[in-house]
Amino acid sequence: MKKQILLIIPILLLAILLYSFKKHSVDNKKVHSVTDLDKKIEQKVDSVLALMTIKEKIGQMVQYSGRNIKTGPDSNTNEKEKIEKIKNGMVGSMLSVVSVKNTREFQHLVMDNSRLKIPLLFGYDVIHGYKTIFPIPLGESASWDLELIKKSASIAAKETSASGVHWTFAPMIDVSRDARWGRIMEGAGEDPYLVSQIGVARVQGFQGNDLSLDNTIAACAKHFAGYGLAEGGRDYNSVNIGEYELNNDVLPPFKAVANAGVATFMNAFNTLDGIPATGHKGIQRDLLKDKWNWTGFIVSDWGSIGELVPHGFAKDKYQASEIAIKAGSDMDMESYAYEDNLEQLVNDGKIDIALIDDAVKRILKLKFKLGLFDDPYKYCNEKREKREVYSVENQNFAREVAKKSIVLLKNKNQLLPLKKHINSIAIIGPLANDKNAPIGNWRAQGVANSAVSLLEGIKSTASPNTKIVYEKGCDLIPNNYKENKITTSKQATTDDANLQRAINAAKNAEVVLLAIGENAFQTGEAKSQAEIGFTKAQLELLKAIYKVNNNIIIILMNGRPMDITWASQNVPTILECWHLGSQAGNAIADVVFGDYNPSGKLPVSFPYNSNQEPFYYNHQNTGRPNNSHSRFYSGYTDKPNEALYPFGYGLSYTTFEYKNLRLDKTDIKKDDSIKLSIDVSNTGNMDGEEVVQLYIHDLVGSLTRPVKELKGFEKIMLKAGQTKTINFNIDDKLLQFYTVNKKWEVEPGDFEVYVGGNSSTTLKTAFTITN
Ligand code: BGC
Repeated sequence: MKKQILLIIPILLLAILLYSFKKHSVDNKKVHSVTDLDKKIEQKVDSVLALMTIKEKIGQMVQYSGRNIKTGPDSNTNEKEKIEKIKNGMVGSMLSVVSVKNTREFQHLVMDNSRLKIPLLFGYDVIHGYKTIFPIPLGESASWDLELIKKSASIAAKETSASGVHWTFAPMIDVSRDARWGRIMEGAGEDPYLVSQIGVARVQGFQGNDLSLDNTIAACAKHFAGYGLAEGGRDYNSVNIGEYELNNDVLPPFKAVANAGVATFMNAFNTLDGIPATGHKGIQRDLLKDKWNWTGFIVSDWGSIGELVPHGFAKDKYQASEIAIKAGSDMDMESYAYEDNLEQLVNDGKIDIALIDDAVKRILKLKFKLGLFDDPYKYCNEKREKREVYSVENQNFAREVAKKSIVLLKNKNQLLPLKKHINSIAIIGPLANDKNAPIGNWRAQGVANSAVSLLEGIKSTASPNTKIVYEKGCDLIPNNYKENKITTSKQATTDDANLQRAINAAKNAEVVLLAIGENAFQTGEAKSQAEIGFTKAQLELLKAIYKVNNNIIIILMNGRPMDITWASQNVPTILECWHLGSQAGNAIADVVFGDYNPSGKLPVSFPYNSNQEPFYYNHQNTGRPNNSHSRFYSGYTDKPNEALYPFGYGLSYTTFEYKNLRLDKTDIKKDDSIKLSIDVSNTGNMDGEEVVQLYIHDLVGSLTRPVKELKGFEKIMLKAGQTKTINFNIDDKLLQFYTVNKKWEVEPGDFEVYVGGNSSTTLKTAFTITN
C-alpha cells in the first residue's frame, strides 16, 4: 500500500505540473497573442531596415502631396524631379492621391523601379466622409451618439480604403473654445471629456479591430497640441497657455486616443508657450513617445518643419530638421526639409542615426500592419470601389446621422413639427436651395452641389397638396467671392426685387422656413472670422420677413457657433442644422415634419456676440464672480456673461423632467466610488431621446477648478410618459486632475455634482472625499 502511494505521488505531481504548464501556456498565449504579432512585425521591420541605405531610410520619412489637391501653400517644386524621387524609393508616403487608378499608378512607380520596393502609404483628409458626406464633425458631435459616430467613421473608412487610400488625417481632437476660429467645424467642440469620447469613437470607427483588413484605415490624432486655442481665434496663431491648462484641457483627448491605439499623430502649426509644436520635444518625444509609451509615428503638418524658420525658432531648414527630428517628428509633410538635410546632419554629427532608425521603424511598422508588404495593391480593387463608394446604403446612413445631429434651439408655441398636410410653406433664403453649402468644408471627394437641398427635402416629404414657394431673398456672398480670398461677410449684397419677392412669398404662406447662415467655405482652415453674425443682407432679409410673417422657422446652416441674438429674441423657432452633408435636406425634412424627434445637444456654447469669445462653459471662477452684489465683478457692462445657448443644450418635441437625484454615499475615501441615480421622465406626448449629462464641480483645489466639468453622459430613449432611472458611477478616474504636484490625482475635499439636460442645470447634490 505504502509502495503504491509512493508511486502515485510523483505521477500526480507530474500531472499537476503538466496541467498547470498547459494552462499557463494557454493563458500566456492569450495575453501574448498581440505582442507576438507585434514582435513578428518588429522582426520584419528590422530585417527591412538592415537592408536600407541612409538615403532610403530618409526617403521613408518624406511625404509629398499629389498633383491635384493642395491643402497648403505651394512649394513650387519640380513635378518631374518628384516623380524621379518616388521611383528611386526616396518618398515613403503621399497625401491627397485618391482613387484606385491614381494610387495604383503611383504605387507602380515605386514597385516597378525602386531598389527595395517598399510600398507607398497614401494619406488623405477624410474628415467627415469620403464621397458620402456626413455632417461636419462639429455637427455630428451634436448627436452625442458614440455608436453612430463610430459607424459613420467606419463607413468613411470603407469608402476610403475602397479607393486605394490607407490613412486619414482625422480625427481632429483639438479642444476649441473660440467660434471665430474657422477650424472649430472640424472638431468635437469645447469640452475635453466629450472631445475624448468622440475622438476614441472616431478612431475605433476608422481603424476597426484590425488594420490589416481591407476595409479599415489608419487614423491620425491631430493637431498635437494646442492648435484649437489660437489667440484671438486667428488660424496658425500663437498659443500661450500654461502647463495646467495644457494638461487638464488640451492633452486628455490625445491621451485617450493614444490609449485606444490610434496609429499616427500629426503635430501642429502653432507655438505652445513660445515653442512651435512641431519642434516641441517635451510633448512629442518625452511625453507621447516616452512617458505614454505610444508606438505609432508622428507626421508633421503641411510644411510645419520648414515653418520653424519663419517662427524664428530655426535659422534655416537644416537647423529646422535637426530640431524637428530630435523633437520626435517622424515624417515631413511637404517641407522638403528632411530630404535635403537629415543625411548631412548625421554626417556632421548633429544627430544620431538612431533617431532616423526609430522614425523609419515606426513608419514601416504601419505599412506592415496594413498588409502593404504582402500586397501593395491590396486596396486597389476597382469593382469594390464602384460598389462601395457612395452606395445607397451609405446614403441612407448619412441621412440617419444628419437627422440626429440637428439641434432644436427654440420652439416657441410648438411651431414645429409641421403637419404634412399644411396648406402652404414659403422656403426662403440664400441657403434654401443650396446644394453645396451642406457638403461643408474638408469635403474630401464630396461632389460640389451634390447635397439634397432643403427645398428638395421638404418637397419630397410634404403632402402633394401643400403649396410650396421658394425665394432666395438675397445672396449669401457677393458674386466676386473667391473661395480662397477672404471677403468679409458684411459685403454680401441684396437687391430690392429679390427681397420684395421673398416678402410677398412670406406674406402668403402659413409658415416660413428661412435658410440662412454660412456657406461651406466660411469655416475650415484659414477661415477665421472676427465677426460671427449673419451678413447684413441676411439680417435685412430676416427682419423684413419677420415684419410680414411671424411664423418663421430659421434653418441655420453653419460651421461655427454664430451670433444669432436678434433671431433668438424675436423668431419663434430655430433649428441648428450645421453643414449636414449629402442628405441634408432629407434629414431636415425628417425633423421639420416630426418623422424624427430632434435629440441633438450643442457640443459648443453659443455666445451672444463674437466679442465674448473665447467662450466656454467650463471656465474657472474669478475672485469676483458675476454672482456678487457689487458692481466690481468680472464681466461686461454691455453683454451678459452667460451663453445665449449653453454647451449641452438642445430641445425636443417632448419635455423631460429630472427628479430624485441621489447618491448612495456622501462621504468617501479617495479611491472609493459613489453611485449616483436620477429619475428621468418623458413628460410630453411624443417619444423622444434625451442626453442625460453629469457635471462635477471640485470646490477647492490646489489649482482653481472649473465651475463645472462634464464627466459623463448617456443618451436614452423614453416613450411618452415613461420614466427611467439612470445611474452614473463616480470614481477617481472622474475626479482626478493634473494638480500642482504635476501629476493626476484626486484631492480630498467637497464636490458638487450636477445632472441635467445641459450645462446650465442647477439640479445638484454634494459629496465629500476624505483622505
Ligand atoms: C492641415 C492638416 C491637414 C493637412 C493635409 C494642413 O494644412 O492643417 O489638418 O491634414 O493640411 O491636408
